Amino acid sequence: MNRKFLTAAVFLLLTVSFFAQDWLDTSVPSFSETYKDTFDYVGFACEYGIKGWSEKELATPEVQKGLAKHAATITMGNEFKPQFIMAWWGKNPRVTSQTFTASNGVTIKTPALNGFNSVDAVLEICKKNNLKMRGHVLVWHSQTEEAFFRKDYNSSKPYVSKEEMTARQEWYIKTVLEHIAEWEKANNGGEHIIWAWDVVNEAIGDGSSSLRSNSSWYKIYGNYDFIINAFRFANKYAPSDVLLCYNDYGCDNSTKRRGMLTLLDKVIENSKASDMPARIDVMGMQSHISKRTRVADIDKAINDFAAKGLDVHITELDIATEEAYKPEELADAYSNVFKNYVKNRKTDSNHGVSCVTIWGLNDESTWLNSPDQIKWHKNKTQYPLLFQLENNKYIPKPAFYAVINALN
Ligand code: GLA
Repeated sequence: MNRKFLTAAVFLLLTVSFFAQDWLDTSVPSFSETYKDTFDYVGFACEYGIKGWSEKELATPEVQKGLAKHAATITMGNEFKPQFIMAWWGKNPRVTSQTFTASNGVTIKTPALNGFNSVDAVLEICKKNNLKMRGHVLVWHSQTEEAFFRKDYNSSKPYVSKEEMTARQEWYIKTVLEHIAEWEKANNGGEHIIWAWDVVNEAIGDGSSSLRSNSSWYKIYGNYDFIINAFRFANKYAPSDVLLCYNDYGCDNSTKRRGMLTLLDKVIENSKASDMPARIDVMGMQSHISKRTRVADIDKAINDFAAKGLDVHITELDIATEEAYKPEELADAYSNVFKNYVKNRKTDSNHGVSCVTIWGLNDESTWLNSPDQIKWHKNKTQYPLLFQLENNKYIPKPAFYAVINALN
């Protein structure tokens, strides 16, 4: 009897997992189709790896098909960050014989970048699969080579002056944005793949309203200038229809949000400058949240940012399941936040949410289970995303259906 029961149970389990729906199944609704009349874009972050070395996720046909079905926009988890584009990997770069004279009159020597291979390969995949992209990120204290901030591009030397750093910042932003524009012109008839850029990431300190002090940017400037300048240079070198965004986490925390609102004011004040105005269009709420985050706090944050005259992108949504993963509980949390995004969506007459990006494709690859992160969640494995990976299949979780149904 027991054996019969066991055999039947195993059979049932095998059948269920064999027939488990995959994100490509026609019976599984498309995330991006569902939301196409609600937000400008929805999509996912994913990884690519180094071309020819560790290509993953986006390099695979399975993921390309899945994203072509479910995403209108993607964000690269790493490949468009300074560290990857500089591709110096902790070394000091080769300093070229070329110079760049910046808008502030300072002439600098420029370092050799060699990180556009993966960028170009990713743009090609976007083009092939009709995907747009949020560019992530130009100015950040993290994942930026230390040599970039130091005399002679040598990480063991002292910091450069503010003037020199401003020239280096302009050179970097110009070089990246012009590279993208040239690629789009040569390969995509000039049509943008990248429709928005995170110009500055995470400049406010944790638990405070002040600028983050553990940042080489901050250590050189000690004020908001590197942020304002970044939005000036981005405005100067990006196409005028590409949206410029400040991106940060912890927006639901009122103390930290106060710091972000001050930062936005500083940039907005400089948008009226006659000489090289700054431009900012969007506040990016990363939204690495938890099942305990209160929707009322998210609602307040969206409305505070919209009141500054900015639209809001939810740029990196994942929901930590904390000590116990209960699929239905996660589904409820997703449902509640999506209902709030829909309520606060951008309309013809109101600023609001215009894009939602989920930070990752499946629970198996979430950053929340990295050794650094998991300790914040009492060493409990986290299941924060919409799909789980089984035998190379992307299986929609109840949270996925909750997101789809949140619209109705
Ligand atoms: C931050 C950054 C992202 C990424 C995540 C963790 O939110 O903005 O680029 O590094 O952390 O994956």
